[in-house]
Amino acid sequence: MTACDTTEPSPRPPAFRIGRWPISAPAVLAPMAGVTDRPFRILARRLGAALAASEMITSDTRLWNSRKSRQRMDHEGEPEPRVVQLAGADPAALAEAARRNIDLGAQIIDINMGCPAKKVCNRLCGSALLQDEPLVGRILEAVVAAAQGTGVPVTLKTRTGWDRAHRNGAAVARIAEAAGIAALAIHGRTRADFYEGEAEYDTLREIRAAVSIPVIANGDIDSARKARDVLDSTGAAGVMLGRAAQGAPWIFRDINGLLVQGVVPEPLARAAQRDIVLEHLQSIYAFHGEDSGLRIARKHLGWYGKLLDDTSAVRARFMAATDTAAQFACADREFGAWCVQTADAA
Ligand SMILES: Cc1cc2nc3c(=O)[nH]c(=O)nc-3n(C[C@H](O)[C@H](O)[C@H](O)COP(=O)(O)O)c2cc1C
Repeated sequence: MTACDTTEPSPRPPAFRIGRWPISAPAVLAPMAGVTDRPFRILARRLGAALAASEMITSDTRLWNSRKSRQRMDHEGEPEPRVVQLAGADPAALAEAARRNIDLGAQIIDINMGCPAKKVCNRLCGSALLQDEPLVGRILEAVVAAAQGTGVPVTLKTRTGWDRAHRNGAAVARIAEAAGIAALAIHGRTRADFYEGEAEYDTLREIRAAVSIPVIANGDIDSARKARDVLDSTGAAGVMLGRAAQGAPWIFRDINGLLVQGVVPEPLARAAQRDIVLEHLQSIYAFHGEDSGLRIARKHLGWYGKLLDDTSAVRARFMAATDTAAQFACADREFGAWCVQTADAA
């Protein structure tokens, strides 16, 4: 036996690091309120997403005593590092919310300054904060100080600026780096653009050039090839996907396959996709219970249903189910028939 035969393959270097956490691959799941609950995060991670942030949690702890808030802070069974996103406008409240979430198991704290909603927590916050750079600095410094000594890095998710006349993303990125933020995720639109128009990757490149911390590019990335192009053109350390993962959590397998191994893996067989859909439904029911489970699963089935032929008829059947057992049986039947169609065609 030669020396080569006995040598363990050396582990792949991480794509980038967030504080003490090596991030194994460039493509990560974007936080999406109402979508990236614990079942979806676990599924996306299993299918290749290198990180999956929680839905945003308000920094107003008075609002935490609801089932919804408690569920957003439940990370049982989630792979490390567990990312919790906080939204708020008050530095002390955000610092306290960070401390409490670290106690509850958060391993990375992400601050939301990207959400365009006017009110995400009874006050202007999210991307509205971009108008007030000194406040951005105070918030980030307070949260970084709260996490100091815990080994929990703090990240920031933001946009390219307030509006097209005020693209202050690079200034905010510098403020973040100076405050001790460990990585940035930037949605390539201004706050005023909401989701209109196309993501501006040129501005992302400028922001990326303004700082030395890892920048994760976000906005309109929907394929492995596009992810590679965005990484190449922006110089970002990673890419973040939101809407393209709805109804297609396996997209991370394709993207990280191309970005890490250099090839997009063979597409998953229909039977494997069906199994993922059914497993996802079961985990939604187990986590959310009968009533919320039925409602939340409808949303995901609406997305998964796009895989099937005659989408509108199938969608109507999914929506008509009035309990989770009927909904699951319907999904089992529809996706089962879809698998058989390929077998027939083959
Ligand atoms: C339904 C939905 C919910 C979202 N919720 C959040 C959120 O809670 N926090 C956040 O920072 N961004 C949120 N976003 C923005 C996404 O994280 C992401 O920045 C945006 O969708 C652009 O990425 P995409 O083009 O890959 O979807 C949300 C987006 C959608 C579509």
